[in-house]
Amino acid sequence: MNNKKQISTLHKKRSEAYLGGGKEKIVKHHKTGKLTARERLALLFDPDTFQEQGLFMRHRCTNFGMTDKEFPGEGVVTGMGSVDGRLTYAASQDFTVAGGSVGEMTAKKIANVMDQALKTGDPFVFINDSGGARIQEGVDALSGYGNIFYRNVLLSGVVPQISIIAGPCAGGAAYSPALTDFIIQVEHEGQMFITGPSVIKQVTGEDVSSEELGGVESHSHYSGVVHFTAKNGKEAMLLCKRLLSFLPSNNTEEPPSLPPVSQMMGPEEHLRNLLPEDPKEPYDILDVIRNIVDKADFLEIQEHFAPNIVIGFARMSGHTIGVVANQPSVKAGVLDIDSSDKAARFIRFCNAFNIPIVTFVDVPGFMPGVDQEYGGIIRHGAKMLFAYGATTVPKVTVILRKAYGGAYLAMCSKEMGADMVYAWPSAEIAVMGAEGATSILYSKEIKEAFDPKELQEEKTKEYKIAFTTPYAAAGRGYVDDVIDPAETKMAIVTALEALRTKREMRPQKKHGLIPL
Ligand code: HXC
Repeated sequence: MNNKKQISTLHKKRSEAYLGGGKEKIVKHHKTGKLTARERLALLFDPDTFQEQGLFMRHRCTNFGMTDKEFPGEGVVTGMGSVDGRLTYAASQDFTVAGGSVGEMTAKKIANVMDQALKTGDPFVFINDSGGARIQEGVDALSGYGNIFYRNVLLSGVVPQISIIAGPCAGGAAYSPALTDFIIQVEHEGQMFITGPSVIKQVTGEDVSSEELGGVESHSHYSGVVHFTAKNGKEAMLLCKRLLSFLPSNNTEEPPSLPPVSQMMGPEEHLRNLLPEDPKEPYDILDVIRNIVDKADFLEIQEHFAPNIVIGFARMSGHTIGVVANQPSVKAGVLDIDSSDKAARFIRFCNAFNIPIVTFVDVPGFMPGVDQEYGGIIRHGAKMLFAYGATTVPKVTVILRKAYGGAYLAMCSKEMGADMVYAWPSAEIAVMGAEGATSILYSKEIKEAFDPKELQEEKTKEYKIAFTTPYAAAGRGYVDDVIDPAETKMAIVTALEALRTKREMRPQKKHGLIPL
């Protein structure tokens, strides 16, 4: 009987805690269009697999009348469960409890599941919806955030970390997502900024709304902080599951694979028609990628930020690959500061998590300009070179059209560590484009010629025949093979299959010094 009473007390306490800030607050929360912390977790985890931890943790703050204040669950729901059958840890902030603010015990709960993710080698998902550090707890709340940041760093490169911005994420709190591998932001619901509109008004005099400052457009188009945007909370959770499906649980495992799609491994003639006849005409690299990867299934990352380079995950023959590709339809696919940062970070992620990289090259060079030089294109472009050079996962490069100058090297040439380099017959591998090259080489002759235009054209033609082909590079072994575009899928899959057992040893060091 006594036992029965204890058990019913437990269930009563649980039910009360499950309500977070209470029914009224949940109704108010739903009215803003947002899902609750528990509804979000229910969408992430396989049914009935979520096991909660720390439900009864309680703050010990006595400041500002806090002694008797109850904050059920301390404003966060934490635990573990299965996502498509694989163990995953999560923390989901509960805005209905003190605005999801993070106190000492809130942080302890989050840190606890992060420690477990590190121990067992499983992904960690952090759903942010919070007013930030719990003001009443002062330095204890700051210390709590410090403990989360420190663990974000410990987990980095060991297990995948994904952040979802499903509500406010202001001040220093924004640095936890920034320390994770991928950020998914929910339209209209999620906002991220270090200082809010009122502080900005006071300090710089600028007038800006919180949506303009930290909404999805700001972070997906301009700052590059966010990797994916979602129309609503449900879409964010499904996107998170899709992203996880490409990733291994930790850095000692291979990514999960799907059964190979039944595909004819003979020549695929439609691939011959992907490039326009005119070598100067732009085209959409996404068409090339989707025609080559399994089921045209490509999860593009940072779609709107630096769109002159395309990055994302796909599968070939059932296995995850990371794709890096120039986008000739935006700024001719040139490499600039933002595209270099974007690609370099992705290359390093793939390397950390054993994901082979397939690089599609059509690049006219690095972006010229005073802005780019003052902004440090040398430093940022060097990240691409460093990232590829430091990467030991299998790397297959396909040169489709232009591969000029330093950008040829920065797009994973043989010298920068590509294991296999293929070129289409349309490839132009040269120090620079023919017109630019002849203007420099024959500037005097052209100036003095009876018909400068005719001489320029003649020299350009000569240069094109000699250098703007794949055969000069293939003749020196910088390209392993010149392939018919129809053979591309077969060539990549065969190379990746052979490279599956690749082992590459490097000198021991604490870490390299990538230019930041
Ligand atoms: C304690 C907080 C809180 C906080 C919100 N609440 N933020 N309690 N500490 N940081 C409480 C509110 O008092 C309120 O309690 C409830 O949460 C809901 O908040 P509202 O203001 O009513 O909601 P809303 O109008 O939707 O506005 C949400 C908000 C706003 C934009 C997040 O609350 C806000 O600006 N909060 C403060 C944000 C902030 O400056 N945080 C510190 C950032 S610095 P009741 O009881 O009324 O329901 C930081 C440092 C991190 O985080 C350090 C890392 C290094």
